[in-house]
Amino acid sequence: MIVLKTGRELTVMREACRISAGALQLVGKAIEPGITTAELDKIAEDYIRSQGAVPNFKNYQGYPATACISVNNEVIHGIPSKKRVIKQGDIVSVDLGALFNGYHGDNAATFACGDVSEEAKRLMDATRESLYEGIKAAVAGGRIGDIGHAVQSYIEARGYSVVRQFVGHGIGTKLHEAPEVPNFGTPSRGIRLMPGMTLAIEPMVNAGGSDVEILPDGWTVLTKDGSLSAHFEHTVAITSSGPQIMTIPEV
Ligand code: MF3
Ligand code: CO
Repeated sequence: MIVLKTGRELTVMREACRISAGALQLVGKAIEPGITTAELDKIAEDYIRSQGAVPNFKNYQGYPATACISVNNEVIHGIPSKKRVIKQGDIVSVDLGALFNGYHGDNAATFACGDVSEEAKRLMDATRESLYEGIKAAVAGGRIGDIGHAVQSYIEARGYSVVRQFVGHGIGTKLHEAPEVPNFGTPSRGIRLMPGMTLAIEPMVNAGGSDVEILPDGWTVLTKDGSLSAHFEHTVAITSSGPQIMTIPEV
């Protein structure tokens, strides 16, 4: 069932999203050679709790941390660890969210640690842009396939591939709500987009093929061919005046 949110609900949810975005921004600024992914996770958790919110990934289906931190060929769901040291030239995908007053925010971005290869930069830029293409297509009266098609066509035109085994999602009083929001699709297909829908749109893009595999830890998703991967995500509200990005940090 797709839950449409009232204006009052969106106001509360915007707070959860603001906190999620603030935490993501802080982690992004902290990325430097030598820092561990466990230290980055702590920065996120401390900030979220300082805002009176709760890290919403922690304990979700047994997930052990605040953030998912996925490096280079890791696509998503990398588990923070004291042993995982970030080094110059890495690309670091950070995904995290906050629960505040009953509502969830969820966002992700891939950050460069120092100077990264041109190839890595191009992948990150294309993935970020594909998210904005998807958001532009999230308009009332359109359909869910419009979003996926916008992302997929942007990415494939650049020779990259979108991951198909994991998708975006509705979000609200639950982290994952209906509908699924694939990063591929056919225009004018799928459920109708309506004002009051809140969606986490989150392209996961591989420099090589779209296939992924999961590590024995049960979480970490890697590209099958070892190629680099990037991930960007915003929580977005569909309104009668167009899509509104909710995961924006306080200025
Ligand atoms: N961030 C993921 C998503 O966007 C959810 C992570 S699963 C968790 O849907 F267990 F790590 F929380
Ligand atoms: Co999400």
